Amino acid sequence: MTGSRPLLRTSLFLALILPLLGGLAISCSPVRYIMMTASPTGAGPVAEPPLEGLNNGLSGWLEHRPEIADQISETLYGAAPPDGETHINERTLIDAHAYHGAGRLELLTITIRLPNEGRGEIDLALITPNDADAPSPVILIPSDCGLQAQLERPDLPPNRNPVPSYCTPSGSWLEAYASSFFGEYVVSPPIEQILRRGYAVAAWHESDIAPDRSSLHDHTLLSLGLDPTEQDRPGVIGVWAWMMSRVADALLQDPDIDGERLSVMGHSRRAKAALLAGARDERFNAIIAHQSGTGGASLHRDNLGEPVSSITQNYPHWFVPAYAEYAEREEELPLDAHHLLALIAPRSVLLGNSWRDVWSDPAGAWRAAEAASPVWPLYGADGLNQTRLADMDVSGHLSYHIRPATHGVRAEDWDAFLAFMDAQDQEE
Ligand code: GCU
Repeated sequence: MTGSRPLLRTSLFLALILPLLGGLAISCSPVRYIMMTASPTGAGPVAEPPLEGLNNGLSGWLEHRPEIADQISETLYGAAPPDGETHINERTLIDAHAYHGAGRLELLTITIRLPNEGRGEIDLALITPNDADAPSPVILIPSDCGLQAQLERPDLPPNRNPVPSYCTPSGSWLEAYASSFFGEYVVSPPIEQILRRGYAVAAWHESDIAPDRSSLHDHTLLSLGLDPTEQDRPGVIGVWAWMMSRVADALLQDPDIDGERLSVMGHSRRAKAALLAGARDERFNAIIAHQSGTGGASLHRDNLGEPVSSITQNYPHWFVPAYAEYAEREEELPLDAHHLLALIAPRSVLLGNSWRDVWSDPAGAWRAAEAASPVWPLYGADGLNQTRLADMDVSGHLSYHIRPATHGVRAEDWDAFLAFMDAQDQEE
């Protein structure tokens, strides 16, 4: 009996410590942030500088809006690549009764031609609900791991370009732990649930055009006919936002899609891109930006969450080089995250968060939302109708969702996203 005690103690110790170590090792957030919880009231420094022109009604705001859009490009994301021309080259039916019969899965190959012999190609998977009796609203969901992994369909084409290392299935305990840590829907969204709620899904692999590697970014820009040495060359976030618009070009050619109801859901770095796509492209009527953090909905000036010094050092290819100049000088930025959110008004935005994802600064996103909210009423729409972070209110066009645990995508997130989407549809 006594001999089993040390074994028991060791097992207990390992059972407690291994999950923690595993989580810390694979987490993209620094260790200390996982041990923290976001402020329940969203308290923190107010969003600076204030939005200009709001005292002069809609015309005052519209006068300032283009200037803000330019500043956002110059300071953060770089110039948007030209629209180019988007063609659907091929369309193949993969499965008419996919996801237990809920949807029809097709593969579209789209080509974008740009000036200076720039060119890009995207394998776009489109899944439309089978029981729709009218054109369907669609949610665009970019993938980091590629279509086979995202849609759980090995019969879709393999990736054209590399995937991040965490996507490679290894079958190891670490991998299993990674998916439990980052949520069951971090790689693959609940497609059947989305279809049954009446939404089509458009999915593609961001690396088809812009892999998330700084060593490959110059090549991406050259292939798009852009000059990588230009100071305002787009970063990867800007190229991903542009890809969302090119996917929209293709979807607008589809009679099964309701072109008035195009929305984008992005997680984390893709949520930064989704917000930018919403700011730049008015065809998107709703943006779901989940845990977008710094460079997304969270205030750059906050002293909590990912600092500019860290994001620009670790991901120099995400932004315009000038952004790095604001490291440790965030207060000198000519704008902050509320400017980005305000550019999306009067269209709909949901900001998803989790209490222990302090690296993404949920409180900073709340204060950015509060500061941007007055822009919606200028258009006669409600902005944030919410007074507490924890009580999501989807009656306005700007909503905030927060749940327990850390970075990742979970069932309760998709429940919130779909509740938000349904509410926005009813309003229109
Ligand atoms: C890192 C990065 C964040 C980003 C996140 C993600 O944590 O620092 O800015 O949002 O990765 O994309 O998962």
